Amino acid sequence: MGLQKKDFPELKIFSEMFGRQAEAIVRSPARVNIIGEHTDYNDGFVFPASINRSLRMVAARREDRICRVYSTRYDTTVEFSLDELKKTREWTDYVKGTLKELFARDFPVGGFDAVIGGDLPVASGLSSSAALELAVSACCQTLFGFEVEPWEDIKLARRAENHFVGVNCGIMDQFSIRLGRKGHGLFLDCRSLEYEAVPIPEDELVFVIADSKVERNLGNTEYHARQKQCERGRLFFKSINKSLRSLRDVSEDLLIVNRDKLDPVIYRRCRHVITENKRVIKAVEALKSPDMKLFGEMMNISHESCKNDYEVSCRELNILVELARKVPGVLGARMTGAGFGGCTINLVSRNRLDEFQDKVGRLYQSSTGLEPSFIVTGAEDGVESRKL
Ligand code: GLA
Repeated sequence: MGLQKKDFPELKIFSEMFGRQAEAIVRSPARVNIIGEHTDYNDGFVFPASINRSLRMVAARREDRICRVYSTRYDTTVEFSLDELKKTREWTDYVKGTLKELFARDFPVGGFDAVIGGDLPVASGLSSSAALELAVSACCQTLFGFEVEPWEDIKLARRAENHFVGVNCGIMDQFSIRLGRKGHGLFLDCRSLEYEAVPIPEDELVFVIADSKVERNLGNTEYHARQKQCERGRLFFKSINKSLRSLRDVSEDLLIVNRDKLDPVIYRRCRHVITENKRVIKAVEALKSPDMKLFGEMMNISHESCKNDYEVSCRELNILVELARKVPGVLGARMTGAGFGGCTINLVSRNRLDEFQDKVGRLYQSSTGLEPSFIVTGAEDGVESRKL
């Protein structure tokens, strides 16, 4: 059916604010990573999906090279010229970074007025940043009448984050948001970029995302530190055998044999990446069987590995996971995304949904003082836009 005007309250805000009608509407979903954490920048495997929370953007062209962008979330309007895209360490960097990348490829972008709203949580590890990058790209394509091929779009958005924003993220988030498919998880090989949309049986089971309400503050520093540690591991294995191009090529046996030669921290980081890749493959096979119990087990072990070997979890995420696992009908629970706060993802029987939210909500609050929130979601389509 495509995008419906009635689902865009931002249209009214746009006309009140700019005194004219918007010309384009965009919906750009958040993503959740089901399994395959911190593997994307190691040439590994991931299995994310788009979810039912989205950023919405409405916009109209201008005659000049000015952009005025109002954010409902921050209740501010930011104005800048396309000829002067400067980093300010705010949310607008994602907008400017994407515009800069579009220019670098000679796409004909002009000035515009826009309102950005939606219902996706920010700083929760659900990739609101990639959602914004892809929304801006989709919006410009619709407004100015050009088309960016999906993989070019994905890489362009990632470059905006790597180069302009300064976060050296992998490709998973932009990929999942651009190519998300309703009812499917996306099994991606981050080296070859081949992917497969795998149906997720949603009749009896459902994914519940639990937001710990701990913002991912330390996130980027630690994220980059993990990348450096992986690089040390990679260089070690490459020095043994040149054909080992990344941790993805290292077997568990080879890792174990070399245990004493590696710094213990590097050893554990490598073990996470190497075993997590195997878990993604096993989980996807389990899903196809379908063996949802095994799928849930892979999620559980993934969490333990993120917590103990990769050390990207935190107290609150661990509490959420432990509480979830005590609820009957929960097949798997793990932290999702970069870590250090944000969300967990839980595979829950539909008939236990209320009990899940009630028990986990209450007990989490009494042990942390924080009130979690829940998103019950299936897999949804990726970014969409259209002209009005
Ligand atoms: C963030 C990054 C992704 C990925 C995850 C961890 O979301 O943007 O590229 O590395 O962390 O799996």
